[in-house]
Amino acid sequence: MTNKKSALITGVTGQDGAYLSKLLLEKGYAVHGLLARRSTDTLWRLRELGIADDVTLIDGDITDLSSLIRALRKSDASEVYNLGAQSFVGTSWQQPTLTAQVDGVGVINVLESLRIAKPEAHFYQASTSEMFGLIQAAKQSETTAFYPRSPYGVAKLMGHWATVNYRESFGMHASSGILFNHESPLRGIEFVTRKVSHGVASIKLGTQKRLKLGNIDAKRDWGFAGDYVEAMWLMLQQDIADDYVIATGVTTTVRDMCKIAFQHVGLNYEDHIDIDQQFFRPAEVDVLLGDPAKAELNLGWKPKTSLETLIVMMVEADIRRLRR
Ligand code: NAP
Ligand code: GDD
Repeated sequence: MTNKKSALITGVTGQDGAYLSKLLLEKGYAVHGLLARRSTDTLWRLRELGIADDVTLIDGDITDLSSLIRALRKSDASEVYNLGAQSFVGTSWQQPTLTAQVDGVGVINVLESLRIAKPEAHFYQASTSEMFGLIQAAKQSETTAFYPRSPYGVAKLMGHWATVNYRESFGMHASSGILFNHESPLRGIEFVTRKVSHGVASIKLGTQKRLKLGNIDAKRDWGFAGDYVEAMWLMLQQDIADDYVIATGVTTTVRDMCKIAFQHVGLNYEDHIDIDQQFFRPAEVDVLLGDPAKAELNLGWKPKTSLETLIVMMVEADIRRLRR
């Protein structure tokens, strides 16, 4: 038997799962990841961070309660991070039922598995600024009313309230992190920052001519995923579980984010972008801007990476990958 602290991460193969695994390994945890079986290779992010052999993978799926109970027993985790989700907002209009099953009911499954097998474990739920949707305050904090605008936002709201409810009903140490958009070189290619960084790299290297985008007037509060996983860990180290907004407090249009990315390689974004209706959404979240004051006060957490640094990091990583 080892005295190492043990953690279980759902969504371990995703962007945040990879960065959180790295952070917890550096802190000396035994890291277990729930691996939802796929026909394609999903371990590239763990490999890119050089930790694929250090994470113990356990077969399971958050829509399958018994697999979660087995994973909890096997990992004996004292901290459980529920990052698993159908996380692409655009897809949630095409697969609303699946999104509800994974992002809503899936959270209840994880909470139930804890209630049955490990009620004393600390639990983190990956909630989202998408729950604010049609914003009800200029700067969104933990007390701002929610108004989701997508099936994804609706499902995540269920997960958020389930987390609050299990905390209040059963005294579980369950925290909900309301994270604003966070990006990195490990971001999925369908999300706009990575689509842009990959597009810019391809245009610069001459393998692509133009980049098709949707609503470039939308504004987001973008931070670096590497900074944000630290906030997740901090929430589970507190004596009392609570809900926290994690954001930078700065909002930027997609247009200005493009400007930064193209400028970095000496190009003008206006010469390379086409607006294409297929990338517009049936209902848009026009602007998000978070107020992370509570996280700074209670957790001592602050973002460290500016949007410029982040976008340059992503463009450079895509140039390196394409050259390889
Ligand atoms: P991501 O890269 O899309 O990763 C999602 C992960 O969930 C993947 O590992 C995926 O596995 C897994 N997954 C999907 N369906 C599953 C299922 N039924 N059972 C178990 N695992 C499943 O997302 P991310 O950016 O890392 O985000 C992590 C979490 O934070 C998500 O819950 C997301 O909704 C939430 N969030 C993200 C942001 C952001 O800006 N990144 C902001 C707020 C909240 P496969 O690789 O096998 O598909
Ligand atoms: N994906 C995408 N592709 N988005 C585009 C495009 C495009 O070609 N053109 C404009 N956009 C706009 C979208 O309409 C949206 O307003 C904004 O860019 C950001 O889109 P995404 O990068 O897809 O992220 P998101 O804000 O919808 O969702 C992400 O952040 C949420 C937190 O607020 C995801 O990571 C969610 O999982 C997360 O919860």
